[in-house]
Amino acid sequence: MFKSIRWRFILIYFLLVFLSMSIVGIYIVDQLEDIQLEMNRKNMEERIKSILNSSDALKTKKWDESIDEIQENINSTQISYNENVYIILNDEKKTIIAGSAEDLIGQSAFNSTQINNYILTKSLDGNVEHIAPPDQLEGAENSENPSLYHMSYPVKSDGNIRGYIYLSNNVEYIYDTVNKSKEIMTQATMIALTLTIFLGLILSSSITAPIKELTIKAKQMSQGDFEQKVNVKSNDEIGQLGTMFNFLIDQLKKSMSSLQQEKSKMETTFKYMADGVLTVDTEGNIIHANPVAINLLSLTNEDEKYDDIVIKLKESMLLNNLKIKSYHGTEILEKNDETYNVDYAPFMNNKNEIGGVIIVFKNITEQYKIDKLQREFVANVSHELKTPITTIKSYAETLLDGALEEKQLAEDFLNVINSESDRMSRLVSDLLRLSRMDYEQTKWKKEKLNLGEMINQTAKKLSIQAKNKNITMHIKTISDDMNILFDRDGFEQIILNIAGNAIKYTSEQGNVWIDAYRENGNINISIMDDGIGIPKEDLARVFERFYRVDKARSRELGGTGLGLSIAKQIAEAHDSTLSINSELNKGTEIIITIPEFK
Ligand SMILES: Nc1ncnc2c1ncn2[C@@H]1O[C@H](COP(=O)(O)OP(=O)(O)OP(=O)(O)O)[C@@H](O)[C@H]1O
Ligand SMILES: [Mg+2]
Repeated sequence: MFKSIRWRFILIYFLLVFLSMSIVGIYIVDQLEDIQLEMNRKNMEERIKSILNSSDALKTKKWDESIDEIQENINSTQISYNENVYIILNDEKKTIIAGSAEDLIGQSAFNSTQINNYILTKSLDGNVEHIAPPDQLEGAENSENPSLYHMSYPVKSDGNIRGYIYLSNNVEYIYDTVNKSKEIMTQATMIALTLTIFLGLILSSSITAPIKELTIKAKQMSQGDFEQKVNVKSNDEIGQLGTMFNFLIDQLKKSMSSLQQEKSKMETTFKYMADGVLTVDTEGNIIHANPVAINLLSLTNEDEKYDDIVIKLKESMLLNNLKIKSYHGTEILEKNDETYNVDYAPFMNNKNEIGGVIIVFKNITEQYKIDKLQREFVANVSHELKTPITTIKSYAETLLDGALEEKQLAEDFLNVINSESDRMSRLVSDLLRLSRMDYEQTKWKKEKLNLGEMINQTAKKLSIQAKNKNITMHIKTISDDMNILFDRDGFEQIILNIAGNAIKYTSEQGNVWIDAYRENGNINISIMDDGIGIPKEDLARVFERFYRVDKARSRELGGTGLGLSIAKQIAEAHDSTLSINSELNKGTEIIITIPEFK
């Protein structure tokens, strides 16, 4: 209980009031007693003097000769109920010769219990002596009544002591007054202490209540509730504390909200970032991982250790290996057919030491693929050119070596050289066409073309090829009103490439069907054959440059693997698409989808 400021405050007040009241009370009572006794002493002296002055016998006559007169004088003097007067003769025995108590007359004063021997003896040398009740313990053993104040007054004449006027009075009333005063003081102290407790409670409450409120609000604040305000009721120190507290809350609120905003901005950035971001402390605990990183590293549990995850991916990325490089560096990581560029750098903690490492996973698969395609493309082109060149060179050498002499052989050789040159020329012109399309240098002359006309015209160009292989071309009658907006040469090229393939990859006696029909506002041109078909795994790749299912066979047939990619690129330049269906040994169907022009 006394741990609280409130009760300590009250206790201190209580002790303060108690001590001051006690000290003041003791002092006042003590003083009161002293003053009263002193006043009594003075009164007694006055009484004695008035007794002396009112009696001639005492003043001027010999006391032993005028005892009766003295007694009469005493009797005529008013003696109050609490006092006694004794006239003591200065003889050997110190005889009481007169007094207010007649039974003592004639006795020796030293034998009387009513006379204090101590002061009587003391006054023998001529001085007025007195003794108050508290001093009587020593030297007043014979005193019967402890409440009597004694005074022995020597009466002198001609330098001799004639006798003593001895006065005693009961001063109990003084002690009664003192006791009463003590009682009053005690009561006053009790009242003061009760008031102290009450006032102390009120006063301490006025101090501790705002502090309690502050404590409660601070506690709520520590739990994240910043909507707190303290009621400031005064402008004193506590009021100022409240004002400061409110100011502090406002400042904190502002800082928290801007921090929150920053944090949320950062979180959103991380969340929607295309790159994976992972933050790891120096102990290997994962502090933060954005969705891309979670997905990439297949993180399931927040407690997973960085090393346990990364060991499955790449050993060189283990925390110790990163540490060796001072947490600075780059790695290439391959996972699930995707390629990532991994950059990492350290971050500092509040002590300006390395707090951990931030690892950024950038998906570079596309770029990687493009680079790879480019490399492959260059290799393919070189290879495709090298083969005819080698053939041409070897045939030319053989001719030079003498084959020229044999007419038939020379002719055959020259035919090969001619066809290989054609092949090279075709390849180069195909590449040029693709490259122009790549760099969007091809100028397409888009015009309204009648589909039926265009297909019949183009099919005618393929008829010799088909006839050579005894392939029947089934060209459906295409309705007159089907028109497209297309570049004439471009369209012809697409049909030649696709239908050319259909003839090329179909064995003798085979069939090729060409059809056109409307679907969803587009025109679908279907070119179908019952040829060799394409294995499922190659289907997605036939539109790639230089891709051939069977390289040797295709080359034998004069192919370079560019036909379909050219067709696709032309179609795309005209908002059209190509799709392929094929079954091995059954046949292939390619559908060209072109928006209908009305
Ligand atoms: N109708 C088809 N039937 C079976 N295979 C086909 C058919 N059309 C294309 N292919 C396969 O797809 C590959 C790619 O065809 P593409 O037309 O691009 O090249 P190519 O015919 O080999 O050479 P190019 O057309 O450049 O002379 C071919 O090599 C062939 O393996
Ligand atoms: Mg082809």
